[in-house]
Amino acid sequence: MTKFLEGKLSARIKVAKRSTIRESLRLIEQTDIISFAGGMPDPALFPIDLIKKACDEVLTNHSEFALQYGASEGYLPLRQEIIKRVASANKEEVKIGEDEIIVTVGSQQGLDLVAKTFLNYGDIVIVEEPTYLGGLQAFRSYGGNFIGIPCDETGMQVELIEDKLKKLSNQEIERIKFVYVIPDFQNPGGRTLSLERRKKLITLAEKYNFLIVEDSPYKELRYCGKHKPSLFALAPRGRVIMLCTFSKLFCPGFRVAYAMGGKEIIYQMVTGKQATDLCTPAFNQAVLSYVLEKDALDPHIEKLISVYREKQKCMLDSLDKYIPPLGMPSIKWTKPDGGLFLWMMMPEHIDTEKMFPKAIENKIAYVMGTDFYHDGSVKNCMRLNFSMPTLEKIEEGVKRLAKVIGSEKGIICRKQVRESMKGKE
Ligand SMILES: Cc1ncc(COP(=O)(O)O)c(C=O)c1O
Repeated sequence: MTKFLEGKLSARIKVAKRSTIRESLRLIEQTDIISFAGGMPDPALFPIDLIKKACDEVLTNHSEFALQYGASEGYLPLRQEIIKRVASANKEEVKIGEDEIIVTVGSQQGLDLVAKTFLNYGDIVIVEEPTYLGGLQAFRSYGGNFIGIPCDETGMQVELIEDKLKKLSNQEIERIKFVYVIPDFQNPGGRTLSLERRKKLITLAEKYNFLIVEDSPYKELRYCGKHKPSLFALAPRGRVIMLCTFSKLFCPGFRVAYAMGGKEIIYQMVTGKQATDLCTPAFNQAVLSYVLEKDALDPHIEKLISVYREKQKCMLDSLDKYIPPLGMPSIKWTKPDGGLFLWMMMPEHIDTEKMFPKAIENKIAYVMGTDFYHDGSVKNCMRLNFSMPTLEKIEEGVKRLAKVIGSEKGIICRKQVRESMKGKE
């Protein structure tokens, strides 16, 4: 970079980090590589006919709004439809007012607005380890520092938070602005926060006076097990900001999402949004509003669930079949109740970043786990996505992955993988 530009750049952009996922996706998408790397919905499931019908309806009857600038808090009929939806059984069963919701350009903008609203340089965010890379990016770019709390089978180990807090001064505790948590089929781990831990987290937030940012893009993509109430539903109003998105339930290209929270907080986020983009595209909001009004989203979600459940099963079965070695406890993966990802944990000596070029040579891609740790400290994990590839590609991709892992030191391959490595397949 030229000296001139270096001197002009903001502190914010200097500390910001590019997403290695987004960078590698650009490469992978252009090749014959089977990718478990993205977090994308299956495009074969996009509801094209429904969208065509909705667009036609919007252009015919609502063009004066849909092609115009809109309110920064979002299109009122859409907000009203969302409010009805979250109040219904099996959604959140919570009643919210029109001033307790803002429509955002994806939940990624929700994360950016939360960071913009609350973080000063040196403020602290408590995050899960691993956590969503886009959250780390948003908080980091507003000067956030991190305290990481490891996850186990039932999500963030909330009971460890207090031990961490005891090591901090009162001034440092005051700088904790919020806990960022993805409680349902987490990205990247696929884990779900237990009800007990949800309640405990709320108790801690009240005791130490921090907010909770609950990011839940996958909540409605449940393949087994029982619905768990959101932290937003469990906590007193004003304690939790909940981010929800239509990206995984409708299509990400629309970039329509929403944040719910206490009205004072939403007011501040609206102020932040005005300076960012004035409003979320009105046309997209009007189309979604039509889809919700016609009760067309839930049947579509049912379809997504049945396809993704099958894909997840295919990936789990293929991992059981091919991943080495039989019965050795040091390679494990999560078996999530929903969402789009599995998380694979390898023996300590395997570095998935170093292994990546070998994976690409074998035409299989994953996301290395390091990216999901705020300090990059964990090297032996990877995230696998199952929503995007076809069933055939999932099985073939796992076979290729098994070959790559099997060629690492200290790993004993299954027989069929060994044979394919010798070219006997
Ligand atoms: C946990 C989490 N939060 C936020 C987002 C951003 O979603 P959106 O498409 O609504 O911006 C994603 C996308 O994958 C995600 O996994």
